[in-house]
Amino acid sequence: MAATTMRATAAGAVLLLALLLVSTNVGRAEDPYVFFEWHVTYGTKSLLGVPQKVILINGEFPGPRINCSSNNNIVVNVFNQLDQPLLFTWNGIQHRKNSWQDGMPGTNCPVVPGTNYTFKWQAKDQIGSFFYFPSIGMQRTVGGYGLISVVSRLLIPVPFDPPADDLQVLIGDWYNKDHTVMASLLDAGKSPGRPAGVLINGRGGKDAANPPMFTFEAGKTYRLRICNVGIKASLNFRIQGHDMRLVEMDGSHTVQDSFDSLDVHVGHCLSVLVDADQKPADYLMVASTRFMVEPSSASAVIRYAGSNTPPAPNVPEPPAGWAWSLNQWRSFRWNLTASAARPNPQGSYHYGQINITRTIKLMVTRGHLEGKLKYGFNGVSHVDADTPLKLAEYFNVSDKVFKYNQMGDSPPGVNGPMHVAPNVITAEFRTFIEVVFENPEKSMDSLHIDGYAFFAVGMGPGKWSPDLRKTYNLLDAVSRHTIQVYPRSWSAVMLTFDNAGMWNVRSNLWERHYLGEQLYISVISPARSLRDEYNMPETNLRCGKVVGLPLPPSYLPA
Ligand SMILES: *[C@@H]1O[C@H](CO)[C@@H](O)[C@H](O)[C@H]1NC(C)=O
Ligand SMILES: *[C@@H]1O[C@H](CO)[C@@H](O)[C@H](O)[C@H]1NC(C)=O
Ligand SMILES: *[C@@H]1O[C@H](CO)[C@@H](O)[C@H](O)[C@H]1NC(C)=O
Ligand SMILES: *[C@@H]1O[C@H](CO)[C@@H](O)[C@H](O)[C@H]1NC(C)=O
Ligand SMILES: *[C@@H]1O[C@H](CO)[C@@H](O)[C@H](O)[C@H]1NC(C)=O
Repeated sequence: MAATTMRATAAGAVLLLALLLVSTNVGRAEDPYVFFEWHVTYGTKSLLGVPQKVILINGEFPGPRINCSSNNNIVVNVFNQLDQPLLFTWNGIQHRKNSWQDGMPGTNCPVVPGTNYTFKWQAKDQIGSFFYFPSIGMQRTVGGYGLISVVSRLLIPVPFDPPADDLQVLIGDWYNKDHTVMASLLDAGKSPGRPAGVLINGRGGKDAANPPMFTFEAGKTYRLRICNVGIKASLNFRIQGHDMRLVEMDGSHTVQDSFDSLDVHVGHCLSVLVDADQKPADYLMVASTRFMVEPSSASAVIRYAGSNTPPAPNVPEPPAGWAWSLNQWRSFRWNLTASAARPNPQGSYHYGQINITRTIKLMVTRGHLEGKLKYGFNGVSHVDADTPLKLAEYFNVSDKVFKYNQMGDSPPGVNGPMHVAPNVITAEFRTFIEVVFENPEKSMDSLHIDGYAFFAVGMGPGKWSPDLRKTYNLLDAVSRHTIQVYPRSWSAVMLTFDNAGMWNVRSNLWERHYLGEQLYISVISPARSLRDEYNMPETNLRCGKVVGLPLPPSYLPA
């Protein structure tokens, strides 16, 4: 058995990559570890012409990119040098058997200022593009986010040739307000208003266009990993004079259709291949807000190596209306013959033939409580408890913290009064469930489920009804973790609840999330076995009602 250690230092970040190389006759090697040390601080940046306080990781904005391969173990030692509690969540990483690392206020105690805490998670059987962000309060509106890129292991076929480079494109709306100001506006029942602009990789306004963001060599092909890391606006992304070949979406290889522009909704990630097949020159890539009264956009420059021809003045027009967007979504297909993280074809799982055991219909509800605006599902507006829900459950003190299943599987007939509580529902382990989201609001929504990938089988205008199931794509819907819901529309997903843990279901629209449009699904394996769920790591932080309690009986090997 041989072990090699490589050390690299980039922009103050220390990345230690330890590869355990074990000869094949020893049997299964432990999966490699990738180590990060993150110092999280405030800094001042003028992103849209106004100096403001932002969240930096190792001095970087956006935060450092996490590059890894399927099944790598990721270890992130987080030093909280803010003046507020901090947690990171890893959007789209499934944490098989391990909601202990999900980094939401319902699963983890916050890292208090002046201390450090180490997250350890595995990109188990996953490939694709994801991102992380700070999950407490409105912190993510001022940064602290970054790309997670999971490449296939060696020898696992990838359904396209290796690109010349693999580039991050983090796009999002931006507000010139401090995150504490955003939170207190929402606490006071006020809206933080429209975004001040759009950022591409942390650059906005004139700064986005100069200097060029990427250099292309003519004749080569580039992979762009595009994530909408904003909090409210759906964005349309396009590149002057270039088509984009869609190859991956939220961790699944797609049928490789070409698009001249793509809608990227809040919390979504996708990968496109771009051929540098045009006349050498500068070209603009544009991210512009969709469905907003006062649109805004950002443009960054892709320069062909050696070019001194400025970009053409005509910026491609964005598409209009949301029917275009819905039709584009309908055209997305899973590539049923491509490998994913494992060598078998990813689509060999015939989800369309499994019987649904339960339908959970989640209608977005908005209301006022004591004069304050609240959002929720089915009349229940979630509020975090002083003890993370997962810990309360594990230590068997949940009755002191929350009540299960306060919310029904379908919305109450009329909009009754909003009920504010920790919103926790249970799902039976390994059952196949249909979840329907209904958004009666005039604005877009985008919903995410932690711990899982789901089949995004259908969406449409108006209210959902069971006969709309005949419109579902039961063959090659993309398996993903986030789905948009258009105004006054529904979206339906299907998934098997086979990942034991406590999982956040949330609106990615962070005002709605903050005001209660989220819940947790508790999935418990009756076997209490390590086959199904890990024990809480002894290093996990304790807070609230579980401080000083003895550890409960461990889950045992199967
Ligand atoms: C804090 O950082 C130190 C130094 O890197 C490390 O040894 C320790 O394990 C970390 N503590 C936690 C709780 O992660
Ligand atoms: C799907 O993946 C296979 C296997 O890599 C590839 O040969 C094929 O071109 C892909 N199909 C489409 C339509 O993208
Ligand atoms: C991540 O991988 C990409 C593509 O190989 C590379 O360009 C980039 O420098 C890497 N970033 C880090 C921080 O390792
Ligand atoms: C699904 O339900 C149908 C009708 O109730 C039944 O005939 C069929 O056997 C079920 N399929 C499976 C795989 O359980
Ligand atoms: C959990 O607590 C309840 C009382 O709150 C008790 O009846 C039950 O036996 C406890 N279960 C375990 C596994 O300790």
